[in-house]
Amino acid sequence: MPEPIPTTAFPSGQAVPVIGQGTWHMGESKRTFADEAKSLRHGLDLGMTLIDTAEMYADGGAERVVAEAIRGRRDDAFIVSKVLPSNASREGTVKACEASLKRLGIDRIDLYLLHWRGRYRLSETVEAFETLKAAGKIAEWGVSNFDTDDMEELGGVTDGGNVATNQVLYNLARRGIEHDLLRNSQTAGIPIMAYSPLDEGRLLRHPDLIHIAKAHQATVAQVALAFLIRNPGVIVIPKTGMPERARENRGSIEIELTADDLTILDKAFPPPVQKVPLEMI
Ligand SMILES: NC(=O)c1ccc[n+]([C@@H]2O[C@H](COP(=O)([O-])OP(=O)(O)OC[C@H]3O[C@@H](n4cnc5c(N)ncnc54)[C@H](OP(=O)(O)O)[C@@H]3O)[C@@H](O)[C@H]2O)c1
Repeated sequence: MPEPIPTTAFPSGQAVPVIGQGTWHMGESKRTFADEAKSLRHGLDLGMTLIDTAEMYADGGAERVVAEAIRGRRDDAFIVSKVLPSNASREGTVKACEASLKRLGIDRIDLYLLHWRGRYRLSETVEAFETLKAAGKIAEWGVSNFDTDDMEELGGVTDGGNVATNQVLYNLARRGIEHDLLRNSQTAGIPIMAYSPLDEGRLLRHPDLIHIAKAHQATVAQVALAFLIRNPGVIVIPKTGMPERARENRGSIEIELTADDLTILDKAFPPPVQKVPLEMI
């Protein structure tokens, strides 16, 4: 049995493994549907229980892949989905959640996020999230693509303090959050969910990463993920439609980067020296 994946906890005390699974671009083609579901199932077998999806992905198609992956084993998974900002009104959020539940084939989403800020007031969306929570349709709620000032504003909204996570772009090539957002979140005990942790695959060809990976007899993806999860309170959600890559990504927990590795990485991917507005994909 491999070493268990370390966990981090939401403010509610709910613990989740620090490596989860993304689903963007899944469900876009009938041809790859079965392999994608198989890859997610393999990830579940390996303890990567957090699956991140959204109503936006393939217009609900990714949620259908997730439904297939968790069929008969709902309790093995921790399901995260997201409401589009254009649906995030008081009534629209509830409707969108019900549609996601139907596509996912479950009666409760474990963590429901506002995908990014839109035209509806935060107070309205938070009220809808709290209504969904009271009805048992979601267990917790959070946000995505919120910068430091957005999080401060959220803190001033009624029940805004119930936020469980902030899912943001964070990888070696996009280290902006290390200036303030990451530290603030750690201090508040609100985990950061790092999306596009491989920079959508672009990091995999970087010569310095290849060099470090060779020294650890590891792969570049494993080094890129290990860099992120060495931070307390960071969860990574790499996406792969290939079971063997799901196993590879899990292997990142075994890599301990040395001080020399970190010096090389800081030179190749400099940390921010001043506030950088949060980037979004
Ligand atoms: N909240 C937001 O606004 C937001 C935005 C973007 C993403 N997300 C979430 O974050 C998840 C991850 O981000 P992402 O999908 O943008 O990018 P990513 O996870 O950084 O990269 C995914 C790409 O890397 C490849 N890959 C994965 N593991 C690999 C490995 N071990 N070796 C080689 N290639 C590998 C995948 O290809 P294969 O599938 O062919 O393996 C895919 O092309 C998304 O799926 C989504 O759930 C959220």
